[in-house]
Amino acid sequence: MSSQKKDQAPEAIATRQQIVLSGTKPTGEHLHLGNYFGALRQFVDLQEEHDTALYFVADYHSMTSIRDGEERRRNTESVVLDYLAAGLDPSRAILFRQSDLPEVTELTWMLSSITTMGMLERAHAYKAATDKGEEIDHGTFTYPVLMAADILLYGSHLVPVGKDQKQHIEMARDMAGRFNRYYDCEALVLPEPHILEDTATVPGTDGRKMSKSYGNTVSMFASNKQIKKAIMGIATDSTPVEDPKDTNQAVFELWCLFATDEADREAMFARAAEGGLGYGDVKKDLLGRLMDYFEPMRVRRSEFEGNPGQIEEILRDGVARARELADPVLDTCRQAAGLGVPRK
Ligand code: ADP
Ligand code: TRP
Repeated sequence: MSSQKKDQAPEAIATRQQIVLSGTKPTGEHLHLGNYFGALRQFVDLQEEHDTALYFVADYHSMTSIRDGEERRRNTESVVLDYLAAGLDPSRAILFRQSDLPEVTELTWMLSSITTMGMLERAHAYKAATDKGEEIDHGTFTYPVLMAADILLYGSHLVPVGKDQKQHIEMARDMAGRFNRYYDCEALVLPEPHILEDTATVPGTDGRKMSKSYGNTVSMFASNKQIKKAIMGIATDSTPVEDPKDTNQAVFELWCLFATDEADREAMFARAAEGGLGYGDVKKDLLGRLMDYFEPMRVRRSEFEGNPGQIEEILRDGVARARELADPVLDTCRQAAGLGVPRK
């Protein structure tokens, strides 16, 4: 045991040993503020606090919305660059592409076989799509099963996500519990969501949840011009400049993401309460802070961008390490379910 570990309380060691895992769908060019403050920022912190953290690009998941292979490849690489730019460090975290470990689809099948239609019909994403009267493909309907397999395959304990994903993690827990019960084993770990209270749901420029599907995003690494356009377009109420402002609006909530500390935030709220503060000024200040905040990440991103060979190497190394965790879990599941012969 290292001297660092010897000095730690047993609970601290147990926490460090919990496996962290999360993923992002490669469905857009760049990640947005919701992805960063809701999820990615936690990924970076948790890679420091835990011995094993896995972060992957959910390219299988993007197949329900993207039907162009080249686009998927480009988006996948872009998410890896965003990960690295944001501070994910391949020497601390395992970075990999979901489809490089196709075993996940085998676990998906095992889980599908114990998942009821009723459970899947209660999923928010499915309900939202049916409410809109959309015709849904089977992949979208069974999305939570693939996501559960993503989590369970690596024995993950903690899953950092935004609040919109909480239900999916509860479903993964349910599937793990069922599998263990049906096959009288402890093959699968029951995972917990890890959600940051303050940024569980980051609002978009129209005040709804920021989401690629609503077209209300502010991207982390879009061009200055695009970011400026998005920020200046944030919807506000029509209170005149001289009147006090309601701080319960997207413009202030987004500004708060970049407040340096509590005093900084209070000073802004005091100015809003006094009146005389124009929304244009808040937006300009927000834009300046946002650009400064992401500047070091932009620089890091462009360094990695010039080196695609390095990205492939990171992913190759990542999948080898991920497979070491996945193999014993999958073998235990196969054995418990009476499938095949041990693979090794
Ligand atoms: P989108 O809704 O734009 O398609 P994703 O579903 O790809 O975003 O989300 C990737 C991660 O970012 C997930 O963990 C999700 O919970 C988180 N996330 C997405 N949008 C937000 C938001 N507006 N606020 C907080 N977290 C978010
Ligand atoms: N469903 C997640 C999203 O839309 C992405 C995802 C896929 C994921 N598999 C996962 C997140 C496993 C956490 C764990 O954002």
